[in-house]
Amino acid sequence: MPTAPQAAAPILSLPSRSQRAGSAKTSPVRDLLALTARPEVISFAGGLPAPELFDVEGIRAAFDAVLDSPGVLQYSTSEGDPGLRDAVARRYSSDGLPTAASDLIVTTGSQQGLGLISTTLVDPGDTILVEEPCYLAALQTFALAGARVVGVPYVGDDLDLDALDRLAAHHGPKFFYTVPTFQNPTGRTHDVEARRTIAAIAQRRGFRIVEDEPYRQLRYSGDALPSLAAFAPGHVISLGSFSKVIAPGLRIGWIRTTADIRSSITIAKQAADLHTSTIDQAAAAHYLASGRGELTLSRIREAYAARRDAMLEMLPSALPDGSSWNRPDGGMFVWVRLPEGRDAASALPAALAHDVAFVPGTSFFSGIPDERTLRLSFTTYSPARIREGLSRLGATWGTGR
Ligand SMILES: Cc1ncc(COP(=O)(O)O)c(C=O)c1O
Repeated sequence: MPTAPQAAAPILSLPSRSQRAGSAKTSPVRDLLALTARPEVISFAGGLPAPELFDVEGIRAAFDAVLDSPGVLQYSTSEGDPGLRDAVARRYSSDGLPTAASDLIVTTGSQQGLGLISTTLVDPGDTILVEEPCYLAALQTFALAGARVVGVPYVGDDLDLDALDRLAAHHGPKFFYTVPTFQNPTGRTHDVEARRTIAAIAQRRGFRIVEDEPYRQLRYSGDALPSLAAFAPGHVISLGSFSKVIAPGLRIGWIRTTADIRSSITIAKQAADLHTSTIDQAAAAHYLASGRGELTLSRIREAYAARRDAMLEMLPSALPDGSSWNRPDGGMFVWVRLPEGRDAASALPAALAHDVAFVPGTSFFSGIPDERTLRLSFTTYSPARIREGLSRLGATWGTGR
């Protein structure tokens, strides 16, 4: 006997994604930038280290050397490899910032550090102050933590310190996030006086500072500057990374934390991924101890300095008249402001038609964007290729250059 058809189960709509997940913005220029993957495009858009400068031989030797060591293929502690933490601590101390290995927690890239700090310090609705413009993936991390992000503007190339003080007084932020040296996206650096003042404001207004320093060692001219932690040791959490000085694929960074939140950050790390790859940490420690890290870094610095100089020499002929840009002492980026009436995002399709690309600055703003801005990265190509790319860029502006 045929059975009666079963009544279809009512279709229930699935619970929606969290409000936090919806609040992390994606960039409207993403699709356009996907076009930069065409091999004929000279892309100044990415923020990638130059792959030909990776010390493949040295990294291979480090992995070979540690592979047989006890424990490197085993689970390990959440704080990280003791030898690696010790090596990083000694580097801070010899740079004038006394640091013990126990002050450090190894992270899976400094990007994870941003997430762990947000988990540890931010409740939904809390305010965080950031530089305006700011590193995009930090903005995404803070949005995912449910933070209210408020931008502190620049006056020219200097952070508006009065605005920092005013906004801190008004919002009572949990922390101020800064990339004090060769910032992403602008390449700007806070000078010693600005650092001293930022630290003093944090102490007076009672907020923390999260200083993110992936570019600190990529200095090609000028003198090294003290860490913000040197001015307000109890207020500053510092992040570091090997991504720009060894290789980003290693995914090794660290948090130099203050004692009061060390155990909370360690628990957040444990909950996130138990620990950063044991073998990668052991190889990084071995690599540093071998002395090859310093050699590689000087090669990287030398190459990037020549690339920066090639870009700075060409920019006057590659940009419309009335454009302005900075001359960073290091890092990977130059920040450009086009003249009145120009809009960087609208100019990108024409640039792509000429097989050259940049990132419009709008993606990096937490508040109202400056549509005249764009970011150029100078690390990826040889000086000759940079000159070729910039001469293509110069051809895209049409009349009125
Ligand atoms: C300012 C800043 N912070 C953090 C990161 C993430 O670096 P990591 O590879 O160490 O996660 C980047 C990467 O470009 C960056 O520019």
